Amino acid sequence: MSLVRSVVLGVGGYLPEKTLTNAELSTMVDTSDEWITQRTGIKERHIAAKGELTSDLATAAARVALANAGVSIAEIDLIILATATPDNTFPASAVTVQEKLGMRHGAAFDIQAVCSGFVFALSQADAMIRSGQVKKVIVIGAETFSRIVDWTDRGTCVLFGDGAGAVVLSGEPQPGDTHDRGVHASRLRSDGHYKEMLYVDGGPSSTGTVGHLRMEGREVFKHAVGMITDVIEDVFATTGFSAADIDWFVPHQANMRIIDASAKKLGIESEKVIRTVSLHGNTSAASIPLALSVASADGRLKKGDLVLLESMGGGFTWGAILLRW
Ligand code: UT7
Repeated sequence: MSLVRSVVLGVGGYLPEKTLTNAELSTMVDTSDEWITQRTGIKERHIAAKGELTSDLATAAARVALANAGVSIAEIDLIILATATPDNTFPASAVTVQEKLGMRHGAAFDIQAVCSGFVFALSQADAMIRSGQVKKVIVIGAETFSRIVDWTDRGTCVLFGDGAGAVVLSGEPQPGDTHDRGVHASRLRSDGHYKEMLYVDGGPSSTGTVGHLRMEGREVFKHAVGMITDVIEDVFATTGFSAADIDWFVPHQANMRIIDASAKKLGIESEKVIRTVSLHGNTSAASIPLALSVASADGRLKKGDLVLLESMGGGFTWGAILLRW
């Protein structure tokens, strides 16, 4: 039975030029390269230039993804931008990206699920494609967390970085079996009971200010592996695929220890895990599409590969998507 699936036609990433190393950070707060490397696996992260906005990063990544897909902006029906660091409270930064890409048709909106934003946005795009509302969609994750971290808090400022990644999705008829290209399943979860574990202490309706990121790192860590593996087991149960079938595991890049513990618990071989956290830090919603763009550019990720995405972050929000590249 033939059916329409959301197939990735192209991928792209963008990282701001400036890098901030652990050595540089240790001149700013009481930390060390040894501590950051051991606890997180992070060596450096990118920081947006003065005046360089989330929409600039997002637009740059979208341009690369469009070129990689061989798709023109005229063919795009929808832009979904996952971000927790929009240019302004409103309008959605997605409409700024739409304008910067020269697109006057279709629609554009933001999705806010912090580090899980890309997984939530991809799931939404897939649902809209399969319902027939749209055919081609740019899904972007873009963040400038350097603007909301508290640069005096060593417990959080060493973890995050800026960047953007994007994919071009297209609704394509597929035979309707396990070999189909495109999204096979997605599962989203959230539980607001945990919202104070990872949040920003400001906002338009509370303080009227932007605020700074606050995190109970140890608490987030404690829940991460269990939540990630539960939602992935759910995706496996839905699709009939198992860890042995996965060609590439592309997890949210928050902490090497969380990534490795999740892969181990699921029984995914270490060689199948895409890791970019050492060079990007945690770029929140941008981390998965950035990792996809790296793995595609270096030739690891190839057409037909079975790819498992997962994320977990503020909310808590978490989710997983299984797709064939
Ligand atoms: O993307 C959204 C999801 N977010 C995450 O997944 C983050 C999850 N959490 C983590 O990745 C880890 O909890 C951290 C990397 C944030 C922290 O690692 P940890 O092993 O949980 O360390 P800890 O918070 O238990 O702190 C251990 C010690 C503390 O000192 P005491 O109390 O043992 O004396 C901290 O004060 O390390 C200290 N510490 C630091 N030392 C040097 C905290 N931050 C730093 C630092 N440099 N940057």
